Amino acid sequence: MESGTQPKTMDQIQTELRDSILHLVINRPEKKNALTSAMYTALVDAMQRADADDAVRVILLRGTGDSFTAGNDIEDFIRKPWKGQAVPSAEQFIRAVAFARKPVVAAVHGMAVGIGTTILLHCDLVYAAEDARLLMPFVNLGLVPEAGSTLLLPELIGQRRAAELLLLASPFTAQRAYELGIVNQVLAPHEVVPAAEQAARILAERPANAIRRSKQMMKEHLKADLDRVIREEVQAIATMLDSPESREALSAFVEKRKPDFSKFR
Ligand code: COA
Repeated sequence: MESGTQPKTMDQIQTELRDSILHLVINRPEKKNALTSAMYTALVDAMQRADADDAVRVILLRGTGDSFTAGNDIEDFIRKPWKGQAVPSAEQFIRAVAFARKPVVAAVHGMAVGIGTTILLHCDLVYAAEDARLLMPFVNLGLVPEAGSTLLLPELIGQRRAAELLLLASPFTAQRAYELGIVNQVLAPHEVVPAAEQAARILAERPANAIRRSKQMMKEHLKADLDRVIREEVQAIATMLDSPESREALSAFVEKRKPDFSKFR
């Protein structure tokens, strides 16, 4: 990849390298940027190439349309349960961000659901629009949370508040996310990408090795536990996708009706 490369569209994942910053853009606005297995694979591919490419010093993640991402594609969940794959592409994406050597900056607007919120826990800097709504609805889907959030959230915000976000699973505002330490700054919607780009530019100008070593040292103490928990969560999800609770939740979404969990014990 070279500086000044034209925008390259891999269907719904776009990459563009500008001034040593790889812009990684989720582009499926008609489905609120919900992520399919193929999109995760494209994201992983871009992350891996960015990590190996000296021309890339920072990665900036954002979405097009009115949302950051509505999380895992529900129909994809139904079609390709994570069970069949040794390391599902979603897990590969989580790992690519969680263990990225280079700094990752996120610009968040609109809905940030499921992995749209949990992936932020792995980004180094997060800028959010006032209109951003974050939500981790895993339990409502009959599943457990992913991306190491069952470890990182209690660690970051305490058990009580983590229970509020993961067990009550209510949407929360960008302002609340800021108060909890999940985002760095809340901005007017039109200011979010420029703020993220500005931060990315500063990171790109700093000595790259010092940035990478510092990042590594900031994250090292949790690395082994995170590695284990990411796997355990994915294994639990793979099993739970077959559960009656999850089947009811997923089909209710597709059928655009309210799920009924009252018959399950
Ligand atoms: N998977 C698949 N399709 C999705 C989706 C997802 N995660 N999120 C949104 N969509 C689709 C909708 O089905 C709809 O498609 P349609 O126009 O063909 O009917 C389109 O995107 C627009 O979504 P809609 O629900 O009409 O928008 P909204 O503004 O009313 O609600 C959300 C937005 C994000 C609150 C809502 O779509 C939602 O709850 N999505 C599911 C989020 C989720 O549970 N993700 C999994 C996390 S693990």
